[in-house]
Amino acid sequence: MTQAGWQELRVETTKAQVETLENWLFDHGAVAITLEDNADEPLLEPGPGETPLWRNVKLVALFPEGLDLLAVTDNIPAQTLVAPVAVPTHVPDQDWERAWMDSFHPMRMGERLWICPSWTDPPEPDAVNVMLDPGLAFGTGTHPTTAMCLGELDVSVAEGTQLVDYGCGTAILAIAGLKLGAHRALGIDNDPQAITASHQNAERNGIREEQFQAVMPDHEAIPSWAGCADIVVANILAGPLIQLAPELTALLKPGGRLILAGLLANQAEALMSAYRPHIALHVVNDLEGWVLLAGTATSAVPPMDASAADR
Ligand SMILES: C[S@@+](CC[C@H](N)C(=O)[O-])C[C@H]1O[C@@H](n2cnc3c(N)ncnc32)[C@H](O)[C@@H]1O
Repeated sequence: MTQAGWQELRVETTKAQVETLENWLFDHGAVAITLEDNADEPLLEPGPGETPLWRNVKLVALFPEGLDLLAVTDNIPAQTLVAPVAVPTHVPDQDWERAWMDSFHPMRMGERLWICPSWTDPPEPDAVNVMLDPGLAFGTGTHPTTAMCLGELDVSVAEGTQLVDYGCGTAILAIAGLKLGAHRALGIDNDPQAITASHQNAERNGIREEQFQAVMPDHEAIPSWAGCADIVVANILAGPLIQLAPELTALLKPGGRLILAGLLANQAEALMSAYRPHIALHVVNDLEGWVLLAGTATSAVPPMDASAADR
């Protein structure tokens, strides 16, 4: 049976109550639930299987058109609510997959680079075009952190560059680097769906197997990259970036460039201080509250123990 439309219910709740409320709404007829920030609090990417981390959450639930929503809204457990429930609205039926695809358009990044959905024709066929289908992974170029990394790669990748894309998602950064002239690239991600999407996108862009590999963080290929990378780019979150400081800097060759994104302006100082024993980082760009840090390894990066001995 085809539905002419849906009833959409918006409910404001807290991080602590999200799961209870979601389960309750599913038990009472909701067919789909999405979560939105309810306090203009920027959020990057939840880890595999994690729930978003906003403190205040707007939950949007879709119900079939014929269902009596009054009986639902009148009985939502009071402890899950932080505001009165809004009046439900009608949403016309549509092809949800196509609706998402329609919002992803070719985008110019920097001087040379375009990111294009794989189902479109590149507007500038002679530009450096990365053809992308994100699948279930993060990385379409629409997020400010990805856009800033792409702009930085556009000016820093040279012919022959060896590139590591840590937290590769769709491998958008690795593939862009290869198309800008990098000799080879290594993508690393702890989400198996990102590894799958990365290999599919590499193939879609005509990247040869010997040029690119996407692996999990414990993969045996990673130690062979130690001290080899001209550029290490990592667009993750501030917490993991701080933990990964020894690993990321150990991948750089002397003179290599580290590019970090995924942190908010008020987290930059903590990041720079965590990396200071390894490399001096500076804010090189900012966009919509996010900042981009970069720095150059001046000499062979010391292993962790050696830097501790210096103190
Ligand atoms: C914000 S996305 C960035 C994707 C892409 N590089 C971009 O710039 O759009 C962060 C990615 O890092 C991965 N990630 C998060 N923590 C990680 C960790 N500790 N080790 C490896 N990958 C991690 C996530 O699975 C996700 O694909």
